[in-house]
Amino acid sequence: MKTPPSRTLFLSGMDVKVYPDSESAAAAAALLIEQAIVDAGGKRGKAVLGLATGTTPKRVYAHLVDRHRAGALSFRDVSTYNLDEYHPIAPNDPPSYHYYMHEHLFKHVDLAPDRAHVLDGTIPEAFAADHAALFERFIEADSGLDAQLLGIGRNGHIGFNEPCDLSPREAVALKTRLVELHPTTKADAAAEFGSLDRVIPKALTLGIATILSARLIIMLATGGHKAEAVAAALRGPMTAQLPASLLAHAAARVIWLLDPAAARGLDGA
Ligand code: PGA
Repeated sequence: MKTPPSRTLFLSGMDVKVYPDSESAAAAAALLIEQAIVDAGGKRGKAVLGLATGTTPKRVYAHLVDRHRAGALSFRDVSTYNLDEYHPIAPNDPPSYHYYMHEHLFKHVDLAPDRAHVLDGTIPEAFAADHAALFERFIEADSGLDAQLLGIGRNGHIGFNEPCDLSPREAVALKTRLVELHPTTKADAAAEFGSLDRVIPKALTLGIATILSARLIIMLATGGHKAEAVAAALRGPMTAQLPASLLAHAAARVIWLLDPAAARGLDGA
């Protein structure tokens, strides 16, 4: 059932919807993805989705799986591209995003295995740049992303585009590439890997330019631990020190879906 937002805001040119709880925010994200599948399917006969991993999107995938099981949603004409993957990592290693996607979405729906694209954590490092460039060419050849699901890190990262010293202009041009993870990201991944010293310190990530090129960007953030990053990103200024603030560059195509805890820093906005 669709719960309406309890508050809607417009910040830095972006639509922001605050839902009564994290569950209804996740349901709203799932509905937007379903609409993108139906709309793009109607227009072009296929839909291309950018997908995210982490704790936050699990409920989104659960909703999409429920809709599929109810016979209301098919992934037959869908291609997916994931935001990121640790490097190096094997696809059957539980902390890998291949494993995550398989467990939370791919094995439950009728998405063709050859259309479910996740950056390859087994590619030798010497070929990582070629692999990243090829991943972008796949997306372009698939006519671009109809919808990109995103989360925000406590440090404001999107995908594994971590805080950095680039100018905003340079940062919005960042391409898909191999990166080093930020200390906050590693700390947040420690539980997944069993301990901080076992966290894989590098990852492949879709570039900010690629993320911003999506026709719809759905940013889902829930929980009080995200409130500070959410408020800084939505209040601006745009800075590569807080990559999510760069979403304002594509403001008209971005929608933020929040629960009250993540929206806490927006009070008075
Ligand atoms: P989380 O990750 O959903 O696990 O909090 C979000 C992110 O880092 O993008």
